[in-house]
Amino acid sequence: MSFFTADADACKRCGACIQECPVLILIADKETGMPKMRTGSEDVCLRCGHCVAVCKTGAVSLAPMPPEGFVPLEKELAVTSDQAELFLRSRRSIRCFKQRPVPHDTLASILRGADWAPSASNRRPVRWVMVEDPNKTQQLASMVIDWMTTLRRDDPELAKKYGVAGLIAAWRKGQDCILRGAPHLAIAYTDEHTDWSDVDGSIALTYLELAAHAHKVGACWAGYFIHAVRESEALREFLGLNDGQHICGAQMLGYGRYGYHKVPMRNGLPARWIS
Ligand SMILES: Cc1cc2nc3c(=O)[nH]c(=O)nc-3n(C[C@H](O)[C@H](O)[C@H](O)COP(=O)(O)O)c2cc1C
Repeated sequence: MSFFTADADACKRCGACIQECPVLILIADKETGMPKMRTGSEDVCLRCGHCVAVCKTGAVSLAPMPPEGFVPLEKELAVTSDQAELFLRSRRSIRCFKQRPVPHDTLASILRGADWAPSASNRRPVRWVMVEDPNKTQQLASMVIDWMTTLRRDDPELAKKYGVAGLIAAWRKGQDCILRGAPHLAIAYTDEHTDWSDVDGSIALTYLELAAHAHKVGACWAGYFIHAVRESEALREFLGLNDGQHICGAQMLGYGRYGYHKVPMRNGLPARWIS
């Protein structure tokens, strides 16, 4: 089977696949009007699947992406724009968690949601570590405190910048300001020297946070933890990250102890319009 094919009977010559191709490697055959791939463009193809997904009649196939891998979309999205906006507004960073663990399948489904995040050139460089065991999540928080204790000794300036004295004092009083007692933690990483790594990672983590919200699972970025992993060999080893891997970010996950009853205000729309 050739890399790109279009079925002559099914193809309506609408040109959608040609126009939607991000790297312009599809053209219309001069005689038949059928879409075809420019000769020798296989390596340029991003394997984004848009040509197949946009085809109304199912005429297009791409060899590396078997047809059964494409899920049909309902004609109309099930959610209205008002519902979608309310969904986005109602997501909050959750910092008080129930100890009840999130089922494995729900965590897997949240990760799958994040896998549809956009990425530069569809490279999809983000990999995940999911800390499922609540005891291990707690252990990681404790390791961050260990790192902070060393930082306070070795680099007081930086320690001051991160406010580690207060975080350590809170920990000693039984208050976890690092991972907030969350039962789970999702960590996104890429190979080092990946272009757009932090951007791709942040988008994937944001998708993860929204997917969690859709499952009524609370999430919160774990900023202190991210700083610590970038500096601490012990934490990297615990997570199985090698020197060539870069942590993009992490999200605490768990069922929120409280529901939110209002959407907090924002200060106007920080946008300039050029019209
Ligand atoms: C990169 C990043 C790092 C963050 N780190 C932490 C953190 O370590 N601990 C925490 O409680 N919240 C953290 N947050 C959450 C923000 O404080 C939160 O998004 C902000 O206050 C707005 O609240 P909302 O998410 O509920 O709208 C972080 C957010 C981002 C984007």
